[in-house]
Amino acid sequence: MHAFAKLLSLAAVLTVLSPLSLGVAGQQCPNGIGVRPEIRTLSPGDLKAFIDAVKLLQTPRNRGQPSEYDNFAMQHNQVRTIAHNTPQFLPWHRAYIRVFESRLQAVSGRRIMLPFWDWSFDSQAPAGSPVFQDNMFGGNGRSSDGCVINGQFRDWRPVYPSPRCLRRSFDRGASLSPFTSVEGIRSLFRYRDYNTFRTQFEFPPHGQVHNAIGSDFSSMFSPNDPLFWLHHAFVDKIWSEWQRTPGNNPNAYNGVNPNRSQASVNDQLAYTPYRVRDVLDTRNLCYVYASFGGFSGGVSRRSVTDSVPRTATSLAPDVTLQDVANASDATARPAADDQLELLQLRDPKPLSEDFIRMNNYDVAVVRQREEEARNMVKQLNAIPNYVSPAALINRPDLALNIIGKHGSLVATKGNKRLRIKVPTGAKDSTMIHNLLRKMASSLGTLQKHVVNNSRKTLADVIGATGAQSVKSIYGVRSS
Ligand SMILES: *[C@@H]1O[C@H](CO)[C@@H](O)[C@H](O)[C@H]1NC(C)=O
Ligand SMILES: *[C@@H]1O[C@H](CO)[C@@H](O)[C@H](O)[C@H]1NC(C)=O
Ligand SMILES: *[C@@H]1O[C@H](CO)[C@@H](O)[C@H](O)[C@H]1NC(C)=O
Repeated sequence: MHAFAKLLSLAAVLTVLSPLSLGVAGQQCPNGIGVRPEIRTLSPGDLKAFIDAVKLLQTPRNRGQPSEYDNFAMQHNQVRTIAHNTPQFLPWHRAYIRVFESRLQAVSGRRIMLPFWDWSFDSQAPAGSPVFQDNMFGGNGRSSDGCVINGQFRDWRPVYPSPRCLRRSFDRGASLSPFTSVEGIRSLFRYRDYNTFRTQFEFPPHGQVHNAIGSDFSSMFSPNDPLFWLHHAFVDKIWSEWQRTPGNNPNAYNGVNPNRSQASVNDQLAYTPYRVRDVLDTRNLCYVYASFGGFSGGVSRRSVTDSVPRTATSLAPDVTLQDVANASDATARPAADDQLELLQLRDPKPLSEDFIRMNNYDVAVVRQREEEARNMVKQLNAIPNYVSPAALINRPDLALNIIGKHGSLVATKGNKRLRIKVPTGAKDSTMIHNLLRKMASSLGTLQKHVVNNSRKTLADVIGATGAQSVKSIYGVRSS
């Protein structure tokens, strides 16, 4: 780090020590406890206020020099070895995004709460997520140079590691592979030991999102991409859910630091005013998370799922449905880039080796966990009568970005498959929604023919605690 950057980092440390960022244990939260919302639940006005505040931090005090925002990105790179693949991964990022949030509040003079992005809910077709739309963060970088050219941050020019445009590279190309599903995330609640939970969550699920979005997001300067804060707010929310899980110790913290000392709640969290113990309870930092039941575009997920009848029904006359056919392979899952399958969950792609190494993880260990995750997806897809809240049949908004491109959609359960023909011109959201409702009402037909190759329930596959969490959060009905 040259002297100039050193000076800046000192300035940044001094800034974060301002009283505004302090909600540490023993101190009151002058404005009470705020609630961090899911990004898609924000009103247009609140979304704009958040985006405007981020842009204020991105505006350099002096033209051509790093902004306060740039310094945050630089700090993240500085903690490469202390806050990644270590026990500090969760508390450090909690402290860091809290400091960022307090700066948003300070520069805007408004009580802006950091939104989170429930990417597990968008996991089956993440490129269609609302976060990648024009009114939010924009989509993939353009093929020529990776620059993001739409969305609210298209003009943003990060300074570190060298000044240029904000870049993304979905799967190092054009598509964006699936993320870990809502069930996969909650399956981690089986791990009762803090550091086991932390390590299983950090890699692969948290890492996959960085790796798949790519470019800035898969580097140690990932905060260059403003989506970083929403990704890590969700990671933080999952930790806080784990902490509040009955039977878990909310203050659990253990593991070994890089300098081989035992991880301690007295350890300082770099670039923040906090020690680990100050951040174990989010209320000490003056925030909690809103629960997010997963609706989208004003369409309740339950309106689709609840229309699944227990017995076979006939289709509406204007929709043609191929007879129930034998699926070629009862245990096959859709390919990562298959967007026609509405019922089954997909496997995330394996992490790239250079990304694993950048994070000091062991490639063999990650490959082993990826294999376990694939086995779990296989078992989830085989549960009789279970439809994931993340399954595309429950996501008319994501399906809208897909359906126009193909002539038909399929739903596979066990060893059986239904195919529905998409009427030409089915492009508006009402039509898509109706189509999915019709598809849903045909699931009874499908179920009737399924040869039951699994008697497992959700709790058998992901554990009772995780199943309870999925059900209570996403309102899942059966199994
Ligand atoms: C070892 O690392 C921890 C965590 O960063 C730190 O709190 C502690 O002071 C370090 N111990 C020594 C002896 O450097
Ligand atoms: C499906 O499999 C069953 C049992 O193997 C067989 O009897 C039936 O003919 C198959 N149906 C189709 C459409 O291939
Ligand atoms: C499969 O088995 C389960 C448990 O025995 C049962 O509840 C379910 O109705 C069966 N599903 C079908 C499609 O036969």
